[in-house]
Amino acid sequence: MDNRPVGMFDSGVGGLAVARAFRRLAPSEHILYFADTAWFPYGPRPAAEVRKRSFAIAHRLLASDVKLIVVACNTASAAALDALREAFPAVPFVGIVPGVKPAARQSRSRHVVVLATAGTLDGGLFERVVEEFGKGTRVARVVGHGLAEAVERAEHRTPHVRARLRELLQPEVSAGADTIVLGCTHYAFLANVIEEEFPGVTVVDTTEPVARRALDLLRERDALGPGPGGLSLIASLDPERFAQKVERLGFQRAEAVQV
Ligand code: DGL
Repeated sequence: MDNRPVGMFDSGVGGLAVARAFRRLAPSEHILYFADTAWFPYGPRPAAEVRKRSFAIAHRLLASDVKLIVVACNTASAAALDALREAFPAVPFVGIVPGVKPAARQSRSRHVVVLATAGTLDGGLFERVVEEFGKGTRVARVVGHGLAEAVERAEHRTPHVRARLRELLQPEVSAGADTIVLGCTHYAFLANVIEEEFPGVTVVDTTEPVARRALDLLRERDALGPGPGGLSLIASLDPERFAQKVERLGFQRAEAVQV
C-alpha cells in the first residue's frame, strides 16, 4: 500500500488521454498531472530542449513525492525516457511509443501509417521500435503538423481539422495503408474523427496499454493507493485556463491547481 500520488506529464492536454484511461483502471489512485503549457508544443523543438524540460518536470513531480512517473507524451519519451531512467534509478518510469507492434500485427495490407510529431519520428526510440516490430511491414511516417495545436485549442471536430487529416493521411490510405497509429497523445482525442474520415481503417491508440502498464507496475510493487483517487494539476503557464480545458474534456473539477 502506498498513498503517494502518481505523476504524469505532457506538453498540454494530450497526456490526459492516458490519465483518463488510468482513472478508469485505477479509480483509487491520485494523479498529479504536469502540463508544460509554457513550452507547448514539444513536437518541433530540439530533443535536447525537450529533455531539459522533462528533467525539470521530473524534479518538480518528485518534490511532491510521486511514486511513479508516466511520461504521457511520445515526444518527451523519445527525447528523455532513457536519460530519466538512468538519472533516477529508484523511480519507476512508464513511457509511450507509437504502437507499431500492434499495428503491424493486425494490418492485412502490411502497410501502416504512423502519425506523430517530428520529435517522435526522428528519435532513436521510434527507430528501435520499427526495427524490432515493423519487419515485413511498410511503416509510413507522417508528421501531424498543426494537429496537437488544434487539440490544445479544443478544435477536435472542425472542418479545418478534418481537411488537415485528409490532407495528411489520405495519400497513404489511398496507397493501401489499412492502419493508422496515433503516435502523439494529443491525437487520442482525434480518434473518433479519424475513424469517421477513414471508414474501414483501424486506428491504433496506445494510451490505454500505457495506463495498464502503470497499474501493473504499481501492483508488482505492492504500491496501490488506498483512495480516494483524484486529479491535481500543475501547469507552467495559465493554470486556471488549463483547468477549464481539463473540465471541458470531461474530467471533474480538478482538486487543486498549483503553479
Ligand atoms: N502530446 C505530445 C506527444 O505525445 C506532443 C504534443 C506537442 O507537440 O507538444 O508527442
